[in-house]
Amino acid sequence: MTTEAILVKLEEIKGIGLHGLEAIETLEYLEEWRVAYLGRRSQLAQLLRGLSSLSFEERRLVGARANETKALLEQSLLKREEILKEADAALLSTKEEMDITLPGRPVPLGRLHPTTQMVREICNAFVSMGFQVVEGPEVEWDHYNFEMLNIPKDHPARDMWNSLWIDYADEDGERTMLLRTHTSPMQARIMEGMRPPVRVVVPGKCYRYEATDATHEWHFFQIEGLAVDEGITFADLKGTLYEFARRIFGPQRRVRFRCDYFPFVEPGVDMAIDCFACQGRGFLSSGAEEGCRLCRGSGWIEIMGAGMVHPKVLEGVGYDPTIYTGFAFGLGPERIAMLKYGIDDIRLFYSNDLRFLSQF
Ligand code: PHE
Repeated sequence: MTTEAILVKLEEIKGIGLHGLEAIETLEYLEEWRVAYLGRRSQLAQLLRGLSSLSFEERRLVGARANETKALLEQSLLKREEILKEADAALLSTKEEMDITLPGRPVPLGRLHPTTQMVREICNAFVSMGFQVVEGPEVEWDHYNFEMLNIPKDHPARDMWNSLWIDYADEDGERTMLLRTHTSPMQARIMEGMRPPVRVVVPGKCYRYEATDATHEWHFFQIEGLAVDEGITFADLKGTLYEFARRIFGPQRRVRFRCDYFPFVEPGVDMAIDCFACQGRGFLSSGAEEGCRLCRGSGWIEIMGAGMVHPKVLEGVGYDPTIYTGFAFGLGPERIAMLKYGIDDIRLFYSNDLRFLSQF
């Protein structure tokens, strides 16, 4: 082919191609057009391949023209594609009576359970004070749940924990296994397994034979704390728990310790923080008739049981109580979350209502 003929052919391809493009109404046909005019077997591609037989001068002229044509066809294709896509969308919105400008439906996202979040927050507070996180069994021996904690058989203190027993008995016909009623059995398990110094927190599920109401669940979490070493005193207990309260409930917190009884600590205490709803005043605004609902007018909120590990417990695990002392505490993360976030019914945690769960 002469140069002249090639240039004419290029013009022809351009003219017919652009004209054909104008007539195309669907994206499907558009693809056919692309194959026909820009594909590897298109006339244009064949022309470009044939250029090698031309002289250098001719090739320069024709090559430049052929590339221009190709670029023009490509641009026109993109433009047409855009127009067709817009038309398609417009058609969809009228034909399907659908407003395509509406935002999409959000995809529901899972998240950590509020108890899990609270447990992690509390454990992290203690981890940053040098405690280690340990876990233990939910099905427990009477031996650890009671005996090792200075609560012998028939001791009236057993009534403090309404127990769910496993239908399993030893040779004497005694029930020996239960769902743990607290995380305290882990105190004995941990001390049996290591020498002091001990600094651990134990989060875990506990079970009680309990009628449920707004403040009682038959299963719930506890976080146990235990620190044993030479020379640990009640001042260490106070300092550690004071720091904990400030981290969870804010820097302004004051704390109060009152005597309480747990067979495995001596002395035993309950720890309270000043009510952060009424700032410990017991009422919400001055002159108000009604007392503060959160602390029931007392100005204080009890958040956990604690005490110095009982010498008998230390003896039981083979620690010499004349050398080692320690403190222990146990708290309920659901209760902490209830106080912190104003949740008024503990049953909400485990009734799987997304309206509640998705708030956290
Ligand atoms: N285990 C006790 C309970 O469940 C709480 C506690 C733990 C008290 C450790 C003192 C020390 O009531």
